[in-house]
Amino acid sequence: MSSSSFEPRSDVDLSVPSAARAYDYFLDGAHNFAVDRAFADQVLRIAPSVPAVAKLNRSFLRRVVKFCLDQGIRQFLDLGSGIPTVGNVHEIAQQVDPAARVVYVDYEPVAYAHARQLLAGNPFASIVQADIRNPDTILDHPETRRLIDFSQPVALLMVGVLLFISDDDGPRELVATYRRRLAPGSFLAISHIASEQAGPALQAEVARLVEAYAAADEHVYVRTHRDILGWFDDGMTLVEPGLVCLPDWRPDDHLEQQSAARPLGYGGVGRVD
Ligand SMILES: C[S@@+](CC[C@H](N)C(=O)[O-])C[C@H]1O[C@@H](n2cnc3c(N)ncnc32)[C@H](O)[C@@H]1O
Repeated sequence: MSSSSFEPRSDVDLSVPSAARAYDYFLDGAHNFAVDRAFADQVLRIAPSVPAVAKLNRSFLRRVVKFCLDQGIRQFLDLGSGIPTVGNVHEIAQQVDPAARVVYVDYEPVAYAHARQLLAGNPFASIVQADIRNPDTILDHPETRRLIDFSQPVALLMVGVLLFISDDDGPRELVATYRRRLAPGSFLAISHIASEQAGPALQAEVARLVEAYAAADEHVYVRTHRDILGWFDDGMTLVEPGLVCLPDWRPDDHLEQQSAARPLGYGGVGRVD
């Protein structure tokens, strides 16, 4: 993992580790502080599979974006986009079409600040700092409206973010609320942590991970295939191969399918009817 000379900021509480910045650390990024690294190192000790899951998740995101581009999608709304790292959505999309439009959304100040810096001078990509539990704020935000035409198909990405939304905050209803604003032919992608297909050792790792995140700014909620599948049943049809373990979704690297972390996450993409 890389260490960081990244400067502390006045809008960041340096006494509480951030899930966004710990994820950056797991992906070998440099936008994290000592409090995040200490937390992430503790997570690594009790749940050593986490960086492997983070990389499988990132790889799923890349394949989803490519799939959507192949389907003719040129507008992306990436909810819980995280701290920009390797293979960001606008980089993949604008390589195929320099005028592809991307709006990132994250409420974490470092993710927001770093994305703003990275996107300065890019007329077709932007970031909105907002909580995804407030869909109207995001969908009606001037930057979203400037870049995304909701009368046309959009790819809405909820990759690695709904695991931070509690049952009390109604992830199913949240997905449905966003879906209702999407034109037919849009795609909605979800990835989520899971453990039901894992053996006892990996299940224990996930249980310890959930416990550890109780000390972070975000709590983690593990869900079943059945839970997540239910989020797609309202106005969407799952594209092949359905909701599957992350490396099994339209794989392009068969080595990933042999990863020991394979059962620790599901991914799927729904096509809006
Ligand atoms: C694990 S990272 C995923 C990043 C990226 N989507 C990926 O899959 O590589 C989760 C991100 O979701 C953000 N997040 C969590 N809950 C959120 C919320 N309610 N509103 C906005 N962002 C949120 C965190 O700040 C973090 O940056």
